[in-house]
Amino acid sequence: MTYLPAVPRTTTGPLFADTGLKLGVFGLNVTSAGAVTASPERHEIDWDQNVRLVRMAEDAGFEAAIPFSRWRGFEGRTNPWGNSFDPYTWAAALAALTSRITLFATSHCLTVSPVMAAKQIATIDAVSGGRIGLNVVAGWFAKELRMFGVETLDHDARYGYSEEWLDIVLRLWEGGEDFDFTGKWLTVESGYSRPAPIRQPHPPIMNAAFSSRGHQLAARYADLSFVSALDAASARKKVGEIREVAEGFGREQSVWIAASVVCAETDQEAQEMVRRWSEVDADEVAVRNAIEWTMGGAHMPEEQHRQLAKAVASTMAGYPLVGTPERIAAQLADLQASGVDGVALTWMNYETGIPRFIDEVLPILEREGVRQPVGSTR
Ligand SMILES: Cc1cc2nc3c(=O)[nH]c(=O)nc-3n(C[C@H](O)[C@H](O)[C@H](O)COP(=O)(O)O)c2cc1C
Repeated sequence: MTYLPAVPRTTTGPLFADTGLKLGVFGLNVTSAGAVTASPERHEIDWDQNVRLVRMAEDAGFEAAIPFSRWRGFEGRTNPWGNSFDPYTWAAALAALTSRITLFATSHCLTVSPVMAAKQIATIDAVSGGRIGLNVVAGWFAKELRMFGVETLDHDARYGYSEEWLDIVLRLWEGGEDFDFTGKWLTVESGYSRPAPIRQPHPPIMNAAFSSRGHQLAARYADLSFVSALDAASARKKVGEIREVAEGFGREQSVWIAASVVCAETDQEAQEMVRRWSEVDADEVAVRNAIEWTMGGAHMPEEQHRQLAKAVASTMAGYPLVGTPERIAAQLADLQASGVDGVALTWMNYETGIPRFIDEVLPILEREGVRQPVGSTR
């Protein structure tokens, strides 16, 4: 049985307000999230630091904090992504320590029961006063999914599974009569979950994916599509394609892009940082594992593999925002002009990167009208 609601949409609140390009902090909960490098400055996680930096971003007006969902690392010398905080409990604790920013829980559908997920999100929704979002990922790292003992489904089957999972979550959030659900993969007997989230019609749903099958799921279920692109032209193309698919379902779609900031006084200095992290401080084994385990690197032409390795080591293959504050602000303005609604940012070192972005890039974005200053709409 497939539950086919009119798919209610969550389109109100600061995430969707008409205030220009939205900003998110992405991946703060995972070591080396923004760059797979052995640089001694690479990102290490600790709880007090996570709280401090999310609060700093909130005070500066960032609309969202989005964790990775990560359960093991890419080994090599430094095991990047090897230490991570669980996204649901991370978001719950931060919900109690913040007041305005939207926190997302990034969730692999295969690793958590939809009944548990619906309840956890409803609980964090209550704790946060309606500031939790659910970022659904189908998963791509077989070794980590196998730890859960879940059946390894092929790519499209993972999306079929995820759609059933979302059917159940949405139905539970309605808080209505008990219901039975019998799908191809999932079964629920007398489904029940109360209280319903306070955020109506439901907490915002995001989906992060690269493929058109992923964008199909996002078009039907998600309020925000979270994507990846390496240049402005491909970002524009992707935004157009996603909006077209969503229109096919009679829906609009906010599109967010993952981007990585490498900011310096000169463009040359920023490029030199990229070179250092990807060549001098390279963790070659970890980079190779990242590409082969999650990006199908084994079948890639050599030159593409080499380019990707450089990107993974310096910007984790996010949209590269590399250069002076002025250049980065101009790139963000271009992304906005391409139809991108929000950017979720990573840094090689969040501790130094976030304050620098706030002090040097954000004022340009506000001055140029790319986004409105904090407090202007609240
Ligand atoms: C911007 C972005 C963020 C992602 N974040 C995660 C994550 O935190 N954890 C994870 O396991 N996968 C993450 N993924 C990968 C998705 O799980 C993966 O893209 C998907 O399952 C593979 O399907 P696809 O071919 O549709 O991309 C992310 C993907 C994108 C584009």
